[in-house]
Amino acid sequence: MNNVLKNKNVDLKITSKHSQKYIDALLRNSRNMGLDKYFTHTANGDKAFTIEAPNLKFGLGVISELGEDAKASGITKAALFVDPYVEQMDHFLKATASLKTAHIDFEVYNEIEIEPTDRSFRNASRFAQDGNFDGFISIGGGSTMDTAKAANLFATYPADLFAYVNAPVGEAIPVPGSLMPHIACPTTFGTASETTGIAIFDILNQDMKTGIAHRALRPTLGLIDPQGLTTLPSAVIASNGFDVFSHAIESYTAKPFTQRIAPKSASQRPLLQGANPYSDMACLEAIKIVGENIEKAVNQSSPLEELEALSLAGMLAGIGFGNAGCHLPHAMSYAVAGLVKNYKPEGWPKDHPMVPHGISVIVNSPAAFSFTSVACPQRHLKAAEALGEDIRNIPENRAGQVLGDKVIKLMKKTGLPNGLMGVGYSEEDIDALTENTLPTRRLLDISPRPIDKEDLKTIFRDAMSYW
Ligand SMILES: NC(=O)c1ccc[n+]([C@@H]2O[C@H](COP(=O)([O-])OP(=O)(O)OC[C@H]3O[C@@H](n4cnc5c(N)ncnc54)[C@H](O)[C@@H]3O)[C@@H](O)[C@H]2O)c1
Ligand SMILES: [Fe+2]
Repeated sequence: MNNVLKNKNVDLKITSKHSQKYIDALLRNSRNMGLDKYFTHTANGDKAFTIEAPNLKFGLGVISELGEDAKASGITKAALFVDPYVEQMDHFLKATASLKTAHIDFEVYNEIEIEPTDRSFRNASRFAQDGNFDGFISIGGGSTMDTAKAANLFATYPADLFAYVNAPVGEAIPVPGSLMPHIACPTTFGTASETTGIAIFDILNQDMKTGIAHRALRPTLGLIDPQGLTTLPSAVIASNGFDVFSHAIESYTAKPFTQRIAPKSASQRPLLQGANPYSDMACLEAIKIVGENIEKAVNQSSPLEELEALSLAGMLAGIGFGNAGCHLPHAMSYAVAGLVKNYKPEGWPKDHPMVPHGISVIVNSPAAFSFTSVACPQRHLKAAEALGEDIRNIPENRAGQVLGDKVIKLMKKTGLPNGLMGVGYSEEDIDALTENTLPTRRLLDISPRPIDKEDLKTIFRDAMSYW
């Protein structure tokens, strides 16, 4: 006799005597079949996502393997980019000792601007073009790694700085081919620049940040050694931790790849494709690790264990946003950093005002998540749960607020500024902040909820202060 078992996902035709246990198991498994329903296929939407896994090595002490790795990458004469502060550290000595042991020739470049600019990218590119190098090594935070990426690009394919910059700010010409090998050795953990094909810089005469995003810019190898983080000021740890958190949650709540219009040809599928099952896994884990470790890492005196965990979270979130993409908090952050007035935070060089990247992101996040939660409340709740919040009995219409409140609680405990007012803005700046965010279409388009100019103004207003 034929029995037909129906549930939401499957019709099972049972053609003989099956035990109830077997049938139950089939039904149970059937509930797990198929992708998360966030990825339901749409008529014109893309049906495919790609996984571009960065090449990474993670572990305490791996900086001492730099020389061997450089050799294996075919580098004989390296342009060695180093953060000027990190250059004084034992970590850098270990790196150069390892290069010497492997007989790798290198020339040091330390004129890195913290939060790089078009000026510092141009200067670094000139150094790279003149040096006849066959490879690049960067030791420092996002500012140093991004500078090395740009220098590698312009040394390999010389062009005007704005040729490869994202439209509408630049011409968005695709990078013509692969670059020279680049080994990136992060000494911070938030940007995960070692995992991405992105280089960010400030356009000085436009008061805005933008970037170059192309898979060719992804370093050949990321050498992640958490031992290099122990000298980080606690404010930089906090800023990096929130950068990781926002990368992960923005990628997890990004518009799903199935809702992006399918590309006309395979080569047009963007690097940042929207949320997808692969980035989901990395991002949820990253959120959880940040929630468990950020407070201790910021408020404890030598938090090596926590830094090791946060470093792993940064790497995972990097893998996530490198394949999915960030949306509103990051899109808004470029205006927040670019229009800075007099803010000079503790823990960073005081030679010029700046809103460091992680801070410029997180001051927007609670307000932005309130806005986006309408589009995918369950994902916002899951993110809050990964951060340690009890989400049982929370209705979907409170998802954004619950997540935002959790973030605000962590911001308070780690000494972050209280929203945009905390970094020197007032309601009078909302128009300028909005205008400077609109060109970051690349990120705004990944928002799970469509956004217009008036929405942006409202979010900036809501982000002015939180407590
Ligand atoms: N490429 C990407 O995918 C990507 C993603 C996000 C952000 N970014 C960019 O990265 C930049 C921010 O990078 P970041 O947050 O890693 O920091 P950073 O490179 O700007 O450095 C921050 C500060 O920490 C110091 N520092 C770095 N390592 C240290 C260490 N081990 N001990 C003591 N001090 C140390 C630096 O000297 C500096 O003062 C921004 O320009 C941002 O826009 C890039
Ligand atoms: Fe970031």
